[in-house]
Amino acid sequence: MEHMGSILQGHKKVAVFTDKGIEASGVLDYPLEQVRKAGVDSVILDDLPAEPTYGQAQRVIDSFRESGADLIVAVGGGSVMDAAKLASITGDDLTVKGLLDDPLAGKKRVASLMIPTTAGTGAEATPNSIVAVPEKELKVGIVNPEMIADHVILDGRMIKKLPASIAAATGVDALCHAVECFTSNKANPFSDLFALEAARLIFENIELACLDQNAMEAKNNMLRAAFYAGVAITASGTTAVHALSYPLGGKYHIAHGVSNAILLLPVMRFNQDACLAEFARIYDAVWAGESRPEGPREEKAEVVLRRMEEILRKLRIPTSLTSFGVDSEDLDTLVEAGMQVTRLLVNNKKAVTPEDAKEIYGQVL
Ligand SMILES: [Fe+2]
Repeated sequence: MEHMGSILQGHKKVAVFTDKGIEASGVLDYPLEQVRKAGVDSVILDDLPAEPTYGQAQRVIDSFRESGADLIVAVGGGSVMDAAKLASITGDDLTVKGLLDDPLAGKKRVASLMIPTTAGTGAEATPNSIVAVPEKELKVGIVNPEMIADHVILDGRMIKKLPASIAAATGVDALCHAVECFTSNKANPFSDLFALEAARLIFENIELACLDQNAMEAKNNMLRAAFYAGVAITASGTTAVHALSYPLGGKYHIAHGVSNAILLLPVMRFNQDACLAEFARIYDAVWAGESRPEGPREEKAEVVLRRMEEILRKLRIPTSLTSFGVDSEDLDTLVEAGMQVTRLLVNNKKAVTPEDAKEIYGQVL
């Protein structure tokens, strides 16, 4: 956080994008102290609700424009950082609605600094911004490289008091990013480097980071892992977990990390045969140096999948959609909506048919 002073240099006024929950938690004090020390004016924009619609994001962006701030600082989770990224490339002549119609119309107008308070969505690393489109009951991803943050600060103190359930859901989101990007059709040597290291860090730190408030090293490792997994997204892409997860957020308002966590195992079991080499490489990265006998890759893949199962169990993440009011009558609608997310489904190593999607959703009812 102490590096913030050099980022603030030369700026007159910062707009701090955040939300009321983060303000109440007290973590906003760390960046605000740096703003005060630097003698820079500031305005706090905290009216963003959770999982905002494009209209709600626009209202916060309008306040930002009225403030005349010349630096955007986002202190929050995915929704806050996503709104701040949209603010950095919109203006009097371009709204968020305009970006939904033409994502590449935006150009960077104001520099941005991201300080994540979860570990995490990876939003601090990606050019993506997700907004809800209520008239379509959908969440839509706006992708534009101009939205990539100019600066990122990863500080374990920002996630120290995060409730365990939120730490778990967001941590598993990062795990999904790492494993999906590593097994994606878009995977390449650059994304592999980041996805594999993210997976290793998450496998080794996630339980401790989520369940022990004082495990600062594990928390810092998770922040690093979430950032790396975000970098992997920029170069590779998520697959069927995120694709089939989208309608669960848009229509049933299940938190992004939770719906991914529910789908992670069924999708990876579906992919298992097609991704044996990738799972074996994850095994080698995570269990490197341990005196385990070298086994065939089928065995290594099984160990990796069981470890993911164990993580979900220990973190007590919901494993079924039923508790969220989804039942078998919703299956066809879910399949139809999920199959529309072709942008991500094409990344899945094994082709997903509507029948496959129905089988996967059916497993978690
Ligand atoms: Fe995600």
